[in-house]
Amino acid sequence: PRYFALIPAAGIGARIGGSTPKQYVSIAGKAMLRHVLDTFSDTVAISHTFVVVSAEDGYINDIMAEPPDHHAGITVLRVGGPTRQLSVLNGLHAAREWIGDDDWVLVHDAARPGLNDSLVDKLIQTLKDDEVGGLLAVPVVDTLKRMDESGRVENTVAREHLWAAQTPQMFPYGLLKKALEQAAAVTDEAGAIEALGLKPKLVTGHACNFKVTLPEDVALAELYLKGLV
Ligand code: C5P
Repeated sequence: PRYFALIPAAGIGARIGGSTPKQYVSIAGKAMLRHVLDTFSDTVAISHTFVVVSAEDGYINDIMAEPPDHHAGITVLRVGGPTRQLSVLNGLHAAREWIGDDDWVLVHDAARPGLNDSLVDKLIQTLKDDEVGGLLAVPVVDTLKRMDESGRVENTVAREHLWAAQTPQMFPYGLLKKALEQAAAVTDEAGAIEALGLKPKLVTGHACNFKVTLPEDVALAELYLKGLV
């Protein structure tokens, strides 16, 4: 089987503010999406990368004008949907002539620019013989509180056994497509696989691979990408 990357990059990223869509915000001199494309290009195991953007995206052509040096190949699919789940599913459909059912797909958020090739390799090495697939994730370190309607603590959620999901999330193409077609609304690929009654494997990720979401996240991502933390 081969390994493909699929990058959903069709969101607006309203929480980060500003007029530039989040995936195109510049961090340490490069758009977030460009960091992600460079990482997959640097990962020898990846055969090809597909990027899903919205039909009216006005930024991707600039990014693709100077493709990464030694890239295995990047294809832009202008099939973004109203949710991340639909953007991924539309991308899987649009890429179907290139990917076999048993090939692996690594779905990665454009908004996680801190990913590096050793994390991608670790995920692939851990899961390449797996029956189901899995995802990068990190154990939750904070104590978690559930809030009631008045903004007060309803209860404390035991954090033992709780992990925060990251991406890439890596599943066989045929299984992932079926899972996303059948699932109700899910916020990640693993959620759709779980809905089929399967158990994705958790592979320890890293704090550097956090999702840039709020304005204050940009400075931290910059420190990681400049190698300062
Ligand atoms: O908004 P959020 O940070 O959850 O988005 C995660 C990833 O999903 C981002 O890379 C974003 O561009 C992508 N996305 C998408 N289509 C949508 C919404 C989000 O491709 N409709």
